[in-house]
Amino acid sequence: MTDEPKPQPTNPAVAPAKPVAAVPAALAKPISRADFLWTGWAMLAAFFGASAAATARFMFPNVIYEPSQKFNAGPAKGYDIGVSTKWLSEQRVWIIRNEKGIYALWARCTHLGCTPNWWGDQNRFKCPCHGSNYTIEGDVIAGPAPRPLWRAKVEISTKGDLIIDKAVLEDIPGKRENAPYFLTLA
Ligand code: FES
Repeated sequence: MTDEPKPQPTNPAVAPAKPVAAVPAALAKPISRADFLWTGWAMLAAFFGASAAATARFMFPNVIYEPSQKFNAGPAKGYDIGVSTKWLSEQRVWIIRNEKGIYALWARCTHLGCTPNWWGDQNRFKCPCHGSNYTIEGDVIAGPAPRPLWRAKVEISTKGDLIIDKAVLEDIPGKRENAPYFLTLA
């Protein structure tokens, strides 16, 4: 008596294999020489297009343009003798007129950059941060400030307006009292 093979139990979790679909005829077709060349040209065009875009981006970088450091402070003859705080909040500059002419001080303490205040009764600028004091000329007379206040370039326009340029500064006695940091007014 021969042993007959026993039927194997089927696992319900394993699905029977599906028949593999035949490859479509269009995909199975070998690529022609012309198609191959067109694909190459398209890739080359894409490469040069991307390079041109990168070059254009390089030519126009992300730049933050700061506001101009130059401003028109109005008629020079409109300033009386003394310290004008007219442009302090907007431009951080004091305009000072004396018997000979006019100059502009940048209102930035040379210690750590706070904005000093003008005390007319004491005839001095006083920094609220660490106590530096400056004369009306900008020289340090007290506190930790290491150097005088900066003077900005001053010019007069053809209309008689005062043009202040905070990008051009001087603080050396002897230089700061001359043009372009001091404007002589008749
Ligand atoms: S920032 Fe003016 S004294 Fe320090």
